[in-house]
Amino acid sequence: MSFIVAIDGPAGTGKGTITKLIAKELGLLNIDTGAMYRCVTLQALRNNITTIEEQQKIIEIAKNIDIKIEHNKEEQQIYLNGENVSKEIRNKEVSGFVSPVSSIPKVREIMVKLQRKMSEDSDIIMEGRDITTVVFPNADVKIYLDANVEERAKRRYMENKEKGIQMTYEEVLEAIKVRDYNDMNKKVGALKIAEDAIVIDTTNMTIDEVKQKVKKIILKKR
Ligand code: DC
Repeated sequence: MSFIVAIDGPAGTGKGTITKLIAKELGLLNIDTGAMYRCVTLQALRNNITTIEEQQKIIEIAKNIDIKIEHNKEEQQIYLNGENVSKEIRNKEVSGFVSPVSSIPKVREIMVKLQRKMSEDSDIIMEGRDITTVVFPNADVKIYLDANVEERAKRRYMENKEKGIQMTYEEVLEAIKVRDYNDMNKKVGALKIAEDAIVIDTTNMTIDEVKQKVKKIILKKR
């Protein structure tokens, strides 16, 4: 059995950064499940699907999609049907449509299956919204990262700036609020705190402080 670390939380809590750093330091395979939903969304948009009225077509896309997450460079690289889309999946259009796409139960079912398969052969650290509750409810370590919405928007804004993604702070804040609402009110796979998850409020913590805290929790169990 693989050793599984499951991390959930809303956008901008530092999940991605923390997970990446810990994966490297502890030799765990890092799986960013948000990137997977983003790939389905990008592919839908490329097929001119812009509303979930066309659910069936989005489901077909999810069924046939080939997603690969590679870690052979400094940054994780996301491949969609062989093409590196690591940057494109973070753009405004994808960010604005990913939450509705990820609310389609059949799309979730396909992604969850894929996520479980990806973790068959190695010890993993997986982050998302439903990892501690749906994908791996029996994970060895379950953590919920949180922070207030203004702090999360500030972090996401800075991150976008570094990546050359052009969005104002107000746009980022608004987008995060809408996404929080959608993520927490989905019929299937809604973001919630698992009963036995350890909650960490990162609002006033540095990345390094959060990393040390999470690492300590993992090492206690491993
Ligand atoms: O973590 P992120 O911002 O890249 O996630 C993008 C979207 O995908 C987010 O709005 C919620 C959704 N998501 C999900 O529904 N389930 C997951 N396990 C991961 C992400």
